[in-house]
Amino acid sequence: MPLLTIAEIYQKPQEELKHLNEIKVQGWVKSVRRSKNISFIILNDGSCLQNLQIVCSSHLEEKVKRVNFSSCLTAKGKLSLTPGQIQKIELRAQKIEFINSTAEDYPLQKQTIPLEVVRNYPHLRAKTNYFLAIFRLRHVISKAIHDFFHQEGFYWIHTPLITANDAEGAGELFSVATKEKELFFSKSAKLTVSGQLQAEALAQGLRKVYTFSPCFRAENSHTTRHLAEFWMVEPEMTFAGLDDILNLAEDLLKHTIKQIIENNLPELEYLEKYSQKQLISELKKIIKINFARITYAESLEILANDKSKFIYNEIKWGMDLQSEHEKYLCQHFDNSPVFVINYPAEIKAFYMKNNPDHKTVASFDLLFPQVGEMIGGGMREDNYQFLKKKAQKAGLDIDNLSWYFDLRKFGYAPSAGFGLGLERLLMFLSAAENIRDVTPFPRYPQHLNC
Ligand code: 4AD
Repeated sequence: MPLLTIAEIYQKPQEELKHLNEIKVQGWVKSVRRSKNISFIILNDGSCLQNLQIVCSSHLEEKVKRVNFSSCLTAKGKLSLTPGQIQKIELRAQKIEFINSTAEDYPLQKQTIPLEVVRNYPHLRAKTNYFLAIFRLRHVISKAIHDFFHQEGFYWIHTPLITANDAEGAGELFSVATKEKELFFSKSAKLTVSGQLQAEALAQGLRKVYTFSPCFRAENSHTTRHLAEFWMVEPEMTFAGLDDILNLAEDLLKHTIKQIIENNLPELEYLEKYSQKQLISELKKIIKINFARITYAESLEILANDKSKFIYNEIKWGMDLQSEHEKYLCQHFDNSPVFVINYPAEIKAFYMKNNPDHKTVASFDLLFPQVGEMIGGGMREDNYQFLKKKAQKAGLDIDNLSWYFDLRKFGYAPSAGFGLGLERLLMFLSAAENIRDVTPFPRYPQHLNC
């Protein structure tokens, strides 16, 4: 007797289904409706968002009594095509093999539970439709990102998670220590905040590389956009300038969005309904338009024209754009993503390349509607002396970074790259309002569950 997934059942041509004898399906119960002679079990097996209705006649009554919400079972029987009905296909069960019931203290009994409550039970999130949709999107965008870089001739490289460097110079490092008094590595070790510096080293030979790995930041941040552990995609491209890297970012995002629309329409429809936002039409729009491109100086002019709208309304050179400003700029460009380039040197990381004005750096942030900063990147400083000075000025441990400075001495090709936060992208693609709901086991201040 073949075991079919629900996805396979819905994908098979009806003619083929008609000729199948008994089959079996396995899954978790989404609901059960009992009446005198007949009961209906709605089953999901994780293969797709759709459920399968299992029809149980009275001979299965004793078995069905034990079935409750989220219990798991195997059902054997014959598929029945019911065109014109809400359920186009159902399984007429001959046999139910009960595997495990759900105990009475199951905390997610009700059909609709606010996401912030479900957040307390990360180990049970896979039992809710919302998270089933989100985690499927996460899988498909991860694959789409790898496919994109493969097509573009980039090598996927693996950079270390344990490091001695503060790659961003922001001091947001988690320490790695053992119980022993002596240091394991003879120097203090940290969890990486970014694989960029090592990616730069490998790009000076492999030419085009990218990392796709977890990053850790000990920011005591309680916003809806920050996690202490998140995944970042960091391409690094040599013989490249700012325009090349902006084009790469735009192409990557459009490719990923197209893949989601092609592969995950049921999930998008579900999330659109859940969030009560225009999701699918927004995604379709973004594929078609050219992302706006403005300088930091131009962004200040736009914000200054409407400053009464902002809580942070002292719009002046050198300020970091706040989330409210980022969202406003996207709205200003008809809800388009906006590249802001050439930020003041003093608010960007030490490795950004000085522009000829020595006031700004060849950097960019890509702002997205609803989410704000989705990507940060730019060209890398190629002048050994400038770079060292900037690192010193930022208070970095320059002895640990000597290898990074040295790259500039040994046939250094101009290099540019960026970092895309996977969870920020997923927030946009799913219309999620809180980054804690797009990663299976979120880590944030005071929360280390599971
Ligand atoms: O702007 P960031 O800090 O840039 C870097 O890390 C560079 N090394 C990237 C590069 O040039 N290779 O971070 C890049 C992106 C942000 O735009 C955001 O999407 C995401 O990483 N990000 C976070 N996502 C979730 N939680 C946090 N705490 C994040 N910090 C950054």
